[in-house]
Amino acid sequence: MALTSSIKILVTGANGQLGMEFRQLQNAFPGFEFLFASKEELPITDDKKVDQYFSTHLPRFCINCAAYTAVDKAEKERTAAYDVNANAVGILAAACKKYEVKFFHISTDYVFAGNATKPYTEADDTAPLNYYGYSKLSGEEKALKEYDQVMIFRTSWVYSSYGNNFVKTMLRLIAERERIGVVADQYGSPTYAADLANAIMQIIAKQNFVPGIFHYCNTGIITWHQFAQAIREISRASCKVDAITTADYPTPAKRPSYSALDTQKFQQTFHIPIPQWRESLEHCLGILRSHKSS
Ligand SMILES: NC(=O)c1ccc[n+]([C@@H]2O[C@H](COP(=O)([O-])OP(=O)(O)OC[C@H]3O[C@@H](n4cnc5c(N)ncnc54)[C@H](OP(=O)(O)O)[C@@H]3O)[C@@H](O)[C@H]2O)c1
Repeated sequence: MALTSSIKILVTGANGQLGMEFRQLQNAFPGFEFLFASKEELPITDDKKVDQYFSTHLPRFCINCAAYTAVDKAEKERTAAYDVNANAVGILAAACKKYEVKFFHISTDYVFAGNATKPYTEADDTAPLNYYGYSKLSGEEKALKEYDQVMIFRTSWVYSSYGNNFVKTMLRLIAERERIGVVADQYGSPTYAADLANAIMQIIAKQNFVPGIFHYCNTGIITWHQFAQAIREISRASCKVDAITTADYPTPAKRPSYSALDTQKFQQTFHIPIPQWRESLEHCLGILRSHKSS
């Protein structure tokens, strides 16, 4: 009897928004064996545990969905943010190199200063405004220095039916209040985590691994206020959504005022269609509605 072994894909940070979307996709990719590792199962900051995990399971791909994502808290918890977003990415890249594993890592639009007037390309200069962005940029640098089989996806404004995010916060607020104020002078593009997970899986399935940095977000550039308005419209809530300025809503971490990402390199390299932001939002809100009614 011939023995067949399926290709193993390790997903770290598997209980986060993006990690959960990979869990959702596993049945659509039956040729692969997914190893979903939560923070408890695989703390990526622990180099010994990472090495042990790789030597025991021998994955062919590693998709790093683990991160320290509390942008405002990162201003104070600098060591914790740097350990996960920078040092641990170096640890994973070194393990990937040692065990010949292709490495997918996720980064952010917050590596940019946000003073551009057109979407940022992968070749544009980085200059993070906050510590989270700095720690994520350091993670990119460590991964690329360590290993040449790394694909980095910079993404922005990530939401999902899982975890905590802007969409779920807005749904709660518009249900509770008659009026809310949302920032209307920061521009960017939302990313439905399910779309990003699907894009990465298509690259793996088509054996189309191309090392380097790629920008990935849903198409269309909007403000947080427009995003909130769309959430209100689609969910048919009566709450009034007022436009406010960044100055009206001070936060510990500075945010870029324009962080739209240019996805042409991704589209030209992989020919994988990217859904439009509102279409994906409708899809996600439909899933959340079905959870509520079931
Ligand atoms: N969310 C956004 O708006 C956004 C925007 C741009 C880029 N990104 C990037 O996209 C990626 C996915 O983000 P996401 O929104 O899915 O984040 P998320 O929901 O916060 O998930 C991150 C996961 O990583 C886990 N984690 C934290 N420290 C860990 C460690 N030391 N070892 C292993 N796991 C650890 C977290 O566990 P605990 O929750 O238990 O700590 C959580 O399950 C990240 O690289 C993020 O930087 C996100």
